[in-house]
Amino acid sequence: MSVRVLALVGSLRAGSHNLQLAHLAARLSPEGTEISVYEGLGDLPFYNEDIDREGLLPDAAARLRRAAAEADTLVLFTPEYNGTMPAVLKNAIDWLSRPFGAGALTGKPVAVIGTAYGQYGGVWAHDEARKAVRIAGATPLEDITLSIPGSVERFADIHPGDDPEVVERLTDVITRLAEATAPQAA
Ligand SMILES: Cc1cc2nc3c(=O)[nH]c(=O)nc-3n(C[C@H](O)[C@H](O)[C@H](O)COP(=O)(O)O)c2cc1C
Repeated sequence: MSVRVLALVGSLRAGSHNLQLAHLAARLSPEGTEISVYEGLGDLPFYNEDIDREGLLPDAAARLRRAAAEADTLVLFTPEYNGTMPAVLKNAIDWLSRPFGAGALTGKPVAVIGTAYGQYGGVWAHDEARKAVRIAGATPLEDITLSIPGSVERFADIHPGDDPEVVERLTDVITRLAEATAPQAA
């Protein structure tokens, strides 16, 4: 049985380097691991308890919850915006955190990685996202880290897939994520 991994990307930019990393991870995933890159976070309305009710739940929120519920594990690819995670990713986590105590993230392993322009590669955003998913009920994989600095320059002329160091480190992340998740997917 395959390990099903749902990838969420914290940048809506068409040319996002984090989106490129997510698609690269899908290509690099070992046999028995399937990574699907979620599309549609930009369609999610801001979380609002008034519409988080039967009959009022937006389709985009229901679809995200379904995709997360069907996954064995999630991997979040995100840049850093103003020292933390972009609102689009936090909004997705908020939708996935409810119903309280029974959200689609409950008990699921979640890895957080990505690239940002700054010298620390978005490590604050990655730490904050781990904190948020833990509070949302997931089990953040604290030992799986990858924060690639200097995104704007590093990937100005090359795709992350043409950067051997990125390929090596991303392959390691995906392999370890699959290993950490396998017992639960079995
Ligand atoms: C609103 C905004 C805030 C940003 N704040 C930070 C920041 O705090 N730290 C950082 O390293 N980069 C910051 N950046 C630069 C992003 O890391 C960089 O644009 C990144 O490549 C965007 O990711 P993407 O290629 O996946 O869209 C910021 C960019 C934007 C648009």
